[in-house]
Amino acid sequence: MNFSNRTPDDLSPNAIARAIEAAQPVLDMTQSNPTLCGFNYPPDILKGLSRPEALIYDPQAFGTLKAREVLANYLSANGQKVDPQNLVLTASTSEAYSYLFKLLGNPGDSFLTPTPGYPLLDHLLHLEGLELNPYFFQVHPDWPIDRTRLEASITPQTKGIITINPHNPTGAFLSENDQQVLLNLCEKFSMAYLSDEVFSDFAYVSQPRRIQNPKVLTFRLGGLSKSLGLPQLKLSWIEILGPDKLVEECKERLDLIADTYLSLNTPVQVALEDLLTFAPDIQNQMRTRLLYNRNNLEKLLSNLHEVKVWPAQGGWYALVKVLREGAKDEDLVIQLLKKHQVLVQPGSFYDFPTGCFLVISLLSQPDLFEAGVIRLRNFLEDLKF
Ligand SMILES: Cc1ncc(COP(=O)(O)O)c(C=O)c1O
Repeated sequence: MNFSNRTPDDLSPNAIARAIEAAQPVLDMTQSNPTLCGFNYPPDILKGLSRPEALIYDPQAFGTLKAREVLANYLSANGQKVDPQNLVLTASTSEAYSYLFKLLGNPGDSFLTPTPGYPLLDHLLHLEGLELNPYFFQVHPDWPIDRTRLEASITPQTKGIITINPHNPTGAFLSENDQQVLLNLCEKFSMAYLSDEVFSDFAYVSQPRRIQNPKVLTFRLGGLSKSLGLPQLKLSWIEILGPDKLVEECKERLDLIADTYLSLNTPVQVALEDLLTFAPDIQNQMRTRLLYNRNNLEKLLSNLHEVKVWPAQGGWYALVKVLREGAKDEDLVIQLLKKHQVLVQPGSFYDFPTGCFLVISLLSQPDLFEAGVIRLRNFLEDLKF
């Protein structure tokens, strides 16, 4: 049987997966499922799902107008007015990407993809028969875009630029200047601008202004999996911006794509208004946790030589850079598993082009997080830096 090459031929567990298997039980410092991190979800948070309206199935490709109006209101509270007619609801942000890739790319086309960056983009693109065209950040506290090869890497097959703001895993916001540069390229080469803003509620500092170019077809992505810490609700969105005529054509085509699947569930749309009233409380709990764990990480690793907790401006992850020449992230991750049964992610998982980075989730419960960091510190000390 010849399968398509959208899925890889070799799906066997890699060396880290095998080390995890052998090291059980593992203290998992990669936990990014908020529902397993001990947040205090109010007991009535899901009550809206059982409203009687949820018993009527009235499928709408972009979601009901009521749900889109509720969402537009919520998003407009951040300053920029959102038009409910330009919102498309999807079952997840991953699905939002898949719709946009179907809309914009033919098999063999590519998207400029931030590197290092979120590994799922690789699969999301390949599953649509598309290619990654990486652009790079400079290793710097603010992770500015490396502009040297940027424009030269664009070909007629490059259909758009993907940004993640704040970025996963660096936690850096794109500066206004970098946003401008990318938007100018989109305008010059008629490419779309995809702005993944799933972590935008989790800034530690005031974030740079979000830039828009009215000539560029722009898609902003967000979802309840991060904004409400409830991935299982399966509700995300795309906001479409740009020249009116293009936006209208986009909507017609997206309508066909979304109508083919109709993957949105009714109860979550009916409950959306109620659900969003809980967002400030949950986001506050999460932000408090992220900052607490981050401070603790910095404190506990502060005396180690040649180890640096890299600065970040937001997001759910922290980067620990091991500065010693020749240190290899995957080797460290496997040794840490073997010696201390602690799991962190290697930077290679996110395609860091240089440097030895370990990636740690900041969502875990503080006592568990601290226990993991102490084991990590002992491990790094034993390496005799
Ligand atoms: C940057 C980024 N975009 C999108 C997603 C996917 O979100 P969803 O759960 O809504 O599919 C994730 C998940 O972690 C992510 O990190």
